[in-house]
Amino acid sequence: MTFQQDGILHHRQSRLAPHATRAPTREWLFRGVLLGCFAGWALGCSNAAPASGGTGGAQTTGGTATGGVATGGVATGGSASTATGGSAAGGVAAGGSSGTPPVVGGNTTGGTATGGTPAGGSASTASGGAAGAAQAGGSAAGGAPQATGGTNSGGVTSSSGSAAGGRATGGAATGGIVTGGTGGPSSTGGASGGNTSSGGTTAPGMLAATPPMGWNSWNKFGGGVTDTLVRGIADAMVSSGMQAAGYQYINIDDMWQASSRDSSGNIAPSASKFPSGIKALADYVHGKGLKLGLYSDRGTKTCAGLPGSYSYETKDAQTYASWGVDYLKYDNCSPAAGSNIQTDYTNMANALKATGRPILFSICAWWFYNWETSIGQMWRTGTDITDTWDTDSHSFISLLNNNGGWSSRYSNASYGSPGLAQYAGPGHWNDPDMLEVGNGGMTDTEYQSHFSLWAIMAAPLIAGNDVRSMNAATKNILTNADVIAVDQDPLGTQGKPISTSTTLEVWSKKLSGTQTYAVVLFNRTTASADITVTWASLGITSASATARDLWSHTDLGSIATQYKATVPSHGVVMLKVVGD
Ligand code: GLA
Repeated sequence: MTFQQDGILHHRQSRLAPHATRAPTREWLFRGVLLGCFAGWALGCSNAAPASGGTGGAQTTGGTATGGVATGGVATGGSASTATGGSAAGGVAAGGSSGTPPVVGGNTTGGTATGGTPAGGSASTASGGAAGAAQAGGSAAGGAPQATGGTNSGGVTSSSGSAAGGRATGGAATGGIVTGGTGGPSSTGGASGGNTSSGGTTAPGMLAATPPMGWNSWNKFGGGVTDTLVRGIADAMVSSGMQAAGYQYINIDDMWQASSRDSSGNIAPSASKFPSGIKALADYVHGKGLKLGLYSDRGTKTCAGLPGSYSYETKDAQTYASWGVDYLKYDNCSPAAGSNIQTDYTNMANALKATGRPILFSICAWWFYNWETSIGQMWRTGTDITDTWDTDSHSFISLLNNNGGWSSRYSNASYGSPGLAQYAGPGHWNDPDMLEVGNGGMTDTEYQSHFSLWAIMAAPLIAGNDVRSMNAATKNILTNADVIAVDQDPLGTQGKPISTSTTLEVWSKKLSGTQTYAVVLFNRTTASADITVTWASLGITSASATARDLWSHTDLGSIATQYKATVPSHGVVMLKVVGD
């Protein structure tokens, strides 16, 4: 199959067959194009004036404070032991102030973002406004330097983009959508204007406060998705313990649709695959305490050639909402002539918001674009994964490098640079694509690595296997509570490689809690090898730290200075480390 994307012809194989029959050699030729697009957002548009609004939830007893959602407002992060600043469109986003770092500055579209103001705390773990990153049309200033040391990496300034209305996390809105934060018991939510405003003791509104967890049909079943399959998977998600482990969304990917819209232009499911319709299926899934996801495309056709949502965004969003859909994956095939990728995705984001139903928006544009962070809860950072270790650009290793930061493998240093991690946080996540764990193309050791590295990158954990028949090894990987806790840590930091070796690697992720880190020791080589992590390299200032092995589920006790482990070929050792 070939398709057109941004003027370039791409070749791909048909997705009509289930995954198992797909050839492993398909290659998409979009990287060069996407790099061009990536550079494109640096071109200038004007900034918007900051708009007025309220102030986000302020938490006084520690924990994580994340405020609400504002359009054209002012978002200010909470005051807490950890605070995440706002994300404001057409407004001002500022990081919180904090007694204990880290504080993360805001993301803004068309406004200004100011990093946080950490006051004291341990030097090594704080950066003064490190994430005061400007989105399209914004400007950003780094936060105030940290009182007791550390680094102030400042903000990123961009003059690109336009100041479209959007949302802010951490604030209140005038005339916008406000959802309450995930603040602790003493937090207070946003104030005025929007559809709803609440905060305080619960987390009523934020979508994807931690990386979404669920299942998707594509990797294993391709076009073979049916009502019977989805009901069976939903049953198995409960009986296998996947739901109890945190998996929530049951996502139907491409090829659920009828080949054409109905006479009124409504999108409809294939009558043979979904004879009871999607609403009945959603009711069934909801009855299990799970949520239902669907798939569409910003172009005239989906990647499998079925009707896309271009120019039908409002109609389709309303249809999804009426069916009880909770999640939309939105693909990037068959763009309409003259259309604009940002406009197309924004149109659907706005249409979903306008329904009033919280529908998670999963952007599948196969690359990171700066504007994605203000309209979606997650966005793909690369091409489609296949169930292979390191065969080609679709293999696990390639997707990992792209999302995780080993830019040295690419000629252009901005490709999948470590900087992607700055865009991850509560409500917005980098998505290196779905899991292949259990699909048979890799060893269990390799699947452990896949799962561990997705978790330390705070990636969405969307299983792609046949949950109805998974073996014990697959189930143990997918339901490892210690590893899932790393992925779901409320701080929402994306971990990064911190070693200089690119074959025997140390990855680190700051977790909530003082001097608390997740560590992955990752052996890319074909022989087992020793890998050492020093506490100092993590930012731990104590002479000793208490460690737990997250795969053997063993407490290792208090250990001085460093930890050395023998790591199998293609395997990991994963730890949680707390400075004493
Ligand atoms: C694209 C996406 C995949 C999948 C298919 C469906 O390739 O990137 O994740 O949704 O389309 O056709």
